[in-house]
Amino acid sequence: MSGSRWVRYVKSDGTEFRIVFPECRKVKPVVCGLKIHGAFGACILPFRVWHLTLHQVVDVSPGLVPGNKIWGGVAVRLDLTDEDPRIPAFVEWFSLRMAIVAAAGMARGEQVMKVPLLDLKPQYAGIREEVRQALDAVCDSQHFILGPVVEGLERDIATYCGATAGVGISSGTDALLAALMAAGVGPGDAVITSPYTFFATAGCIARLGATPWFADVDPETLNLDPKRVKALLESPPARYKKLRPKVLLPVHLFGQCADMTPLMELARVHELMVIEDAAQAIGSEYRLAGAVRRAGAMGAMGCYSFFPSKNLGGFGDGGMVVTSDPALAESLRRIRNHGMHPKYYHSMVGGNFRLDAIQAAVLRVKLPHLDAWHAARRRHAARYDAAFAGRAVTPPTAAYRADGMTHHHIYNQYVVRVPNRDAVRERMNQAEIGCEVYYPVPLHLQACFKDLGYRQGDFPVSEQAALETLALPVYPELTEAMQDEVIRVLLSAVSA
Ligand SMILES: Cc1ncc(COP(=O)(O)O)c(C=O)c1O
Repeated sequence: MSGSRWVRYVKSDGTEFRIVFPECRKVKPVVCGLKIHGAFGACILPFRVWHLTLHQVVDVSPGLVPGNKIWGGVAVRLDLTDEDPRIPAFVEWFSLRMAIVAAAGMARGEQVMKVPLLDLKPQYAGIREEVRQALDAVCDSQHFILGPVVEGLERDIATYCGATAGVGISSGTDALLAALMAAGVGPGDAVITSPYTFFATAGCIARLGATPWFADVDPETLNLDPKRVKALLESPPARYKKLRPKVLLPVHLFGQCADMTPLMELARVHELMVIEDAAQAIGSEYRLAGAVRRAGAMGAMGCYSFFPSKNLGGFGDGGMVVTSDPALAESLRRIRNHGMHPKYYHSMVGGNFRLDAIQAAVLRVKLPHLDAWHAARRRHAARYDAAFAGRAVTPPTAAYRADGMTHHHIYNQYVVRVPNRDAVRERMNQAEIGCEVYYPVPLHLQACFKDLGYRQGDFPVSEQAALETLALPVYPELTEAMQDEVIRVLLSAVSA
């Protein structure tokens, strides 16, 4: 018998593996592997069949899924004679393995599509020329810190968010710090916030010598629970009684606004200044007193982060505070520059929290695309929601979806809850599907806040969330095929 023989395995999504057995004469031991080519490069997933050794990959045909370079064809030449008695057994073995792989979804050898949690390269590819021109303009101007490009971004962001002023700051963390400084927060003051957030939220409070007062989060949204805040303000534990509650600092976690109506009311009644941590939520909308408002522009000040992984991310660190209070805006401008005004005269102690023109230039190019990127994230979220309905994966709650707002959620993170989270995460990691835990330790249990006197069990909703949450890839350029792979691996991991 002569001529090529091959075995084909077609997955349910139409992609195929093909193993070619060409005509050949020699009999020698070979190993067989799957060579997979894709956007991530090439890799060989070896599997041993008796004592076979890889001989040569004869056919690699990328692009079996139209428009998606991740999948490649698989063809492995085995240097066997056609009469080799091992071939039928191998063909059977391979087909069987592929079938098992498809059914179980977890066997090694099946995973050919890596999906990162976040890939910024395709976004950059789409705006590369514009960005480079903007960067060139900054280089030509040699004006690197603050200046006209930063001022332009400040106007653009303030307009986008519905505030009258923006103050460009060096990072989201520094934006929080500067806002708290502008609010006059210091020793003896308490700032009420969530224990289920990124560390910076509470870290900035502590850095000013003030005390973070935590209130537990809502089990659906994982945002600060107004009922808990009310209880805390009305009957503070004994150890808080000496403190002056000064600021309410809600966090718009993962891209969805905290429930601002009751929070603003509590702030009014208890005379607290509201500073929003909108680091993850630029553009996210909420209906306040009947009007659609954007995250960051509801309280006295709102803080954004332009960390690269944010929906609006720079080419490094960056942040901004927005406000509609001219006195606060002026104070923030001084605070970000050593409290200086006029030059070399310091009426207060500030810091170096200035934003670079390079970051502002990149962000000004990106801003016009932001709504479309938010929309793409929401489309991915809707596909995930549908895929997880009725399964052992709890999708995130989009609390304001029915409120008729365009950006009821901007999904900076799409965070599901799964009961056996750590094992699931491990399986996802093995399958090279990006995922992350935001956040494994609530802030009241962080070692550095031991002196605040909190104990395990104080905030059960946050503590449970820390055990169950898992963020999945949701960046705008994620393809449907990639998303399907995330869904398949996750569902198989939760039922394993
Ligand atoms: C909720 C929250 N607050 C504050 C920050 C701090 O922002 P940055 O990393 O820009 O300092 C982050 C960053 O991830 C965040 O997620």
